[in-house]
Amino acid sequence: MTTSKTSGRRRLPGLRVGEGFTRHPFDEEFGVRTSGLVAGRHLKSGHLHDRHATAYYGVAPSVLRALLRRWQKSRPGWALEEVSFIDVGAGMGRAMLLTAELPFRQVVGVELNPTLGRIGRKNLAVWRASGRARTPMKLVCGDAVEFPLPEGPCLAFLFNPFGAPVMRRLLAAWRKVLIGRAGELDLIYVNNEQECVLEQQSGFARLFLGQVRRSRADAIADHRILANQPDGEYASTNYEDCSIWRWAG
Ligand SMILES: C[S@@+](CC[C@H](N)C(=O)[O-])C[C@H]1O[C@@H](n2cnc3c(N)ncnc32)[C@H](O)[C@@H]1O
Repeated sequence: MTTSKTSGRRRLPGLRVGEGFTRHPFDEEFGVRTSGLVAGRHLKSGHLHDRHATAYYGVAPSVLRALLRRWQKSRPGWALEEVSFIDVGAGMGRAMLLTAELPFRQVVGVELNPTLGRIGRKNLAVWRASGRARTPMKLVCGDAVEFPLPEGPCLAFLFNPFGAPVMRRLLAAWRKVLIGRAGELDLIYVNNEQECVLEQQSGFARLFLGQVRRSRADAIADHRILANQPDGEYASTNYEDCSIWRWAG
């Protein structure tokens, strides 16, 4: 019987010290809490979409930074200050923290699991207090499909949050609000397992498809974390399969 608790609440499997939990150097460096690997079956919120959740795992900082640089070179047509960044499946907010170091109009995240969302909000507070955030940040708990896309140009980020059924519903919801808004939604997709769902959608043009390498430090950290997982379900490679898309209308 584990005694691992936070403020009286039991920790999610995968976040318990002694049961495979291994801290990522990002957390050590910045005093936040984004480490851990929580299998999809443990991500219960009571929503119908729970069963399509893949897992919680924070993105490798080097991969996200490389993709943001690549996206900025893709001629988005908007100044960074005009673009809202949306982390679809924000987890504990690691991608939000990294992105908030750039002067986006705002950084918003939506996360289905309330425990992860609660931890994520605490991380945002740490980031604000440290002075690293250059933009307003907000993390909302709920389902990505029901989350209203902000007005104006948006850059959505997906680190393989869910399976094809939810991906299809999300794109269908976005299509409805994107009529007449060509060029107003770009999408960065890391570990792009549901790439074919995007390929089947008319209106989305792919700007990039390829592998993005982790830095040496991130590769070592991720290998160490995944080597420690009790069930050995997830594999780590030195790169992520990624793509970048633009809504062309
Ligand atoms: C691989 S993690 C990515 C975390 C974060 N984006 C990052 O890179 O640091 C995917 C997250 O998507 C969340 N998720 C899964 N289905 C969701 C849904 N329908 N709506 C919102 N979040 C969802 C999971 O709970 C999990 O935290």
